[in-house]
Amino acid sequence: MSDLTRSGAVGEPVSTGSAGAPSAFLEVRDLRIHFPTEDGIVKSVDGLSFQLERGKTLGIVGESGSGKSVTSLGIMGLHTVGQYGRGKARISGELWLDGKELLTADPDEVRRLRGREMAMIFQDPLSAMHPYYTVGHQIVEAYRVHNDVDKKTARKRAVELLDRVGIPQPDKRVDDYPHQFSGGMRQRAMIAMALVNNPELLIADEPTTALDVTVQAQILDLIRDLQKEFGSAVIIITHDLGVVAELADDILVMYGGRCVERGPAEKVFYEPQHPYTWGLLGSMPRIDRDQTDRLIPVKGSPPSLINVPSGCAFNPRCPYADVPKDGITRTERPELRQVAEGHLSACHMSQEERTRIWTEEIAPKL
Ligand SMILES: Nc1ncnc2c1ncn2[C@@H]1O[C@H](COP(=O)(O)OP(=O)(O)OP(=O)(O)O)[C@@H](O)[C@H]1O
Ligand code: SF4
Ligand SMILES: [Mg+2]
Repeated sequence: MSDLTRSGAVGEPVSTGSAGAPSAFLEVRDLRIHFPTEDGIVKSVDGLSFQLERGKTLGIVGESGSGKSVTSLGIMGLHTVGQYGRGKARISGELWLDGKELLTADPDEVRRLRGREMAMIFQDPLSAMHPYYTVGHQIVEAYRVHNDVDKKTARKRAVELLDRVGIPQPDKRVDDYPHQFSGGMRQRAMIAMALVNNPELLIADEPTTALDVTVQAQILDLIRDLQKEFGSAVIIITHDLGVVAELADDILVMYGGRCVERGPAEKVFYEPQHPYTWGLLGSMPRIDRDQTDRLIPVKGSPPSLINVPSGCAFNPRCPYADVPKDGITRTERPELRQVAEGHLSACHMSQEERTRIWTEEIAPKL
């Protein structure tokens, strides 16, 4: 059982303090990633904690701007690098990967780990692949950075991987440029590039949003198969709870840079304990309903990350903000509390109240 789920009985706030090296493969502790800007400090990630074991998949879900990509770039140590380091990030907390703490590690060490132990698949492969080099060249280079092999051996590896991710005629397509591939094929090629060094942690940031529905399903199946084969830990980031409900072991729901609910996928999906998660479930596309029933977006807009609402950040949009809560004022921020083993929620309502609302008012309408 994880540290976070171990701490505290049901209903008690969960501790995020430092506790030495963890036993989990990946452990994120109280991660904060803030960007000072002219308008104020953007608190993109503000106290996020979670763990992930090898061979397991964590789905991170939340609306646009909730801090999902900033979190993944933070884990990869990319906030200070090239195109991603737009603004200088202030990062605090702890990021443990396989017993090493990455925030205090030598940047060269983090660079070595990137690509070899951890790799990332981006939403838009064109932004991650260089337009002037062939797909094969880019996979070969990604391999040779971490392996002392000649070009011929690396090319053989590139062809093997392109074949493994389902590119037809890989020995020919290896010499194509990214623009000669379709969107789905480019996404497959990027997966091949990410996997070329057998990374133990793979982060897929909205890997399918730019693709049509059939190709989306194929790419998700591919990620699932590859994970079984490679035994990597996978983080899948998406807007769509439906995607991760099937694919993930655990789901973490982010709102305004914080986790509002986390737990085993079936619990978060079938017995969600946070009004924002209910909203996300209500906005999910349903294949068994007609178009008019689909996509009821969560009303209102995501919070400002500079002036985050006091108390519960979801309160301006929450239909239950006025439900009486014993002795708790609106300006108190709800801590993550355990509602069942491994299942945490940050909401002031009592568990009985939330369960009643979910079973009587929300679930029947979904
Ligand atoms: N370098 C930066 N400087 C200032 N603010 C930033 C920077 N990078 C990200 N942000 C802000 O942090 C917030 C979270 O961004 P992030 O990209 O993580 O959202 P997201 O959850 O991935 O959204 P989406 O689903 O649209 O990809 C946004 O408000 C974004 O504008
Ligand atoms: S704490 Fe209050 S405002 Fe926040 S989600 Fe719970 S009921 Fe809604
Ligand atoms: Mg994003």
